[in-house]
Amino acid sequence: MHQHNISTNFTVFESSDELSVIDKELLEKAIAVRETAYAPYSGFKVGASVLMQNSDVFTGTNQENAAYPSGICAERVAIWNAMSSLPDGKIKKIFISARSTKNLVDRPVAPCGSCRQAIAEYETKQLENIEIYFTGEIGNIIKANSIKDLLPWMFDNSML
Ligand code: THU
Repeated sequence: MHQHNISTNFTVFESSDELSVIDKELLEKAIAVRETAYAPYSGFKVGASVLMQNSDVFTGTNQENAAYPSGICAERVAIWNAMSSLPDGKIKKIFISARSTKNLVDRPVAPCGSCRQAIAEYETKQLENIEIYFTGEIGNIIKANSIKDLLPWMFDNSML
């Protein structure tokens, strides 16, 4: 029997002023689009922006449904928006921002497991890492350099 440990890396930014000009603009796009989220049931509004290798930017918001499981997260809306427009495109970065109509979200909101799996699919496909930035309404911004840092032991097509 062997005991092993997996450690992952991330960067903490205390404010968007610590980001590059381009990254700050991308975060601002995620924050702006967040307000258009359709989240009448949870009141939890999420916005995401995706930067492609060709510099195109796509956005997405969470879309809820009276049949709750039929709703979808902002990250997957943004990623699928990008990949359906640019099927051969490569995703460079995704920015995620969340706020609630019920309480102050003062911690970074990490993508859910299903969204991590969706990001993993495209990182695997494109053979280039995807940077993931996530934040709440206020507070720190976290950056992971790769989905591997958020989803160690990920399932991918090499297992099929
Ligand atoms: N949500 C996202 O859009 N992204 C996340 O990373 C976490 C959760 C949405 C789904 C649902 O509409 C609401 O937030 C509450 O879970």
